[in-house]
Amino acid sequence: MTFDVMTLFPAQIENNLKESITGRALTKGVIKLNAVNIRDFCDNDYGKVDDTIYGGGTGLLIKCEPVYQCWKSLFDSEENRPYTIYVSPKGSVLNQKKVIELSKKKEICIICGHYEGIDSRVIDEICDEEISIGDYVLTGGELAACVIIDSVSRMIDGVLPNEDAFTNESHMDGTLEAPQYTMPSSWHQSEVPSVLLSGNDAKINEHRKIASLVETWQKRPDMLDNLEISEDEWQKAIAMRKNL
Ligand code: ADE
Repeated sequence: MTFDVMTLFPAQIENNLKESITGRALTKGVIKLNAVNIRDFCDNDYGKVDDTIYGGGTGLLIKCEPVYQCWKSLFDSEENRPYTIYVSPKGSVLNQKKVIELSKKKEICIICGHYEGIDSRVIDEICDEEISIGDYVLTGGELAACVIIDSVSRMIDGVLPNEDAFTNESHMDGTLEAPQYTMPSSWHQSEVPSVLLSGNDAKINEHRKIASLVETWQKRPDMLDNLEISEDEWQKAIAMRKNL
């Protein structure tokens, strides 16, 4: 999978993703990153890519043409056109379902706005969709681009050590992951549930399933609306929650 990022601050993208798991995936070549500077496509000698806003308004807007030329430089034919995303607080909010959908693409181009954003005409012409990472406003799209690349990369074969590492995670099946514990089994008068020390895989899986339901119920009750929970599971979840 190739990620192109169109930005005024390529180093912000590269520095963020070169660490840890994404860094290793980049070194192995499982994912590729191509952070391009929109400024390299401006039509003047002094690197100005933005201008004042028609009709008035504070701040500056990135102009259509440098964005368009930057995007065109990424592919040589219509078949190679990358799936193109504009990150902005106006987009649909990213979730795990969208992350999985994006992980199946061959190449994704993410366009980052800065200042007041980008002239709407070029966004309408070249973008397949607009994505937000939450209902708040960042100073620019770079962190949002990194969030998308990080979350999508995790879903790509060869990035995480094994499939278990992502199938048992929060949000993969619409619930939050059960609480997890490591040594020691007793810490500050708090004990690890004894079933997790039993070595009985069936019982452990059953415990984790109910614990995951309880975790979701406590921390994100809104997510329960989309789940099919049997009466038996509910009763077990109620009993487990009473014992917490
Ligand atoms: N740019 C500024 N705020 C943003 C947000 N919440 N999501 C994506 N891109 C953004």
